[in-house]
Amino acid sequence: MKKIGVIGYGNIGEAMISGMLKSKFTVPEKILVSSRNEKKIKYAIDVLKINVTRDNLSVVEFSDILIIAVKPIAMKEVLEEIKEYIKEDQIIVSVVSSVETKDIEAVIGKHKIVRSMLNTPVMVNEGMSALSIGEAVSYDEESLIVEMFQSFGQAEIVDEKYMDVITAVAGTSPAYVFMMIEAMADGGVLMGLPRRKAYKMSAQAVLGAAKMVLESEQHPGDLKDMVCSPGGSTIDGVYTLETNNFRGTIMKTIKDATRKVIRIREKL
Ligand SMILES: NC(=O)c1ccc[n+]([C@@H]2O[C@H](COP(=O)([O-])OP(=O)(O)OC[C@H]3O[C@@H](n4cnc5c(N)ncnc54)[C@H](OP(=O)(O)O)[C@@H]3O)[C@@H](O)[C@H]2O)c1
Repeated sequence: MKKIGVIGYGNIGEAMISGMLKSKFTVPEKILVSSRNEKKIKYAIDVLKINVTRDNLSVVEFSDILIIAVKPIAMKEVLEEIKEYIKEDQIIVSVVSSVETKDIEAVIGKHKIVRSMLNTPVMVNEGMSALSIGEAVSYDEESLIVEMFQSFGQAEIVDEKYMDVITAVAGTSPAYVFMMIEAMADGGVLMGLPRRKAYKMSAQAVLGAAKMVLESEQHPGDLKDMVCSPGGSTIDGVYTLETNNFRGTIMKTIKDATRKVIRIREKL
């Protein structure tokens, strides 16, 4: 079992570690994270029972797989700090959005680098991760990293050129879906449904619909057609959405979020 280190133990870093432990991909003794946040340190030690340090270099020294999960703005500083200490056989996994493999290599040189994009549903082991595997990573190492990401959801290997749009489609989209669930529930409450039941019903409807897309392999449009009986209430709702540019708005949201990812990179 490989030793896993995390530098940047925030929302995503913690979610990945929780997911790995929950699925028994690894055990607490094999994990070391660096954190400066007292609340997170306490939870890590008391609840997850993992090792914690305040020193990034100890994490580099400890780990076979080094996960970096800081915000993009902090990435260069972290890479500068650790570059002399990275081991030749260490796998560096960056989950930092907007930062490309070539940007990482520009600071630390050629290493075994995996760039990934994932989303907060990793917290409930339903994450969607995209992985771009560096040239120096062997086939066995690639399998291990895929297995690690699959321990908290689905993982797909992709060409790095798709990472910006994947950041929008998979990374940012849970926020839009949460808004939709909230709005559906508000609509239910507006029409008299108790709020708790409204949240449960709208969330489960989204979960079930997503599962149908993934498991039936039918076109989402066909699945939509299946719900719409002629002259019925569903097609009436579809008409309301279409006349309010629902799909165009979602498409533009993904386009805008992708462009923002690119703009953030250009400013780094
Ligand atoms: N949240 C998402 O849905 C999501 C999805 C996909 C990808 N990502 C990417 O994942 C990364 C982390 O996002 P997040 O939401 O988890 O952010 P976050 O909660 O702010 O976590 C970042 C962590 O990095 C730590 N940090 C900052 N500078 C550091 C340094 N020099 N050394 C060690 N630790 C340092 C911060 O600690 P302090 O709090 O002490 O500063 C914080 O705990 C980002 O690059 C983001 O683009 C996030």
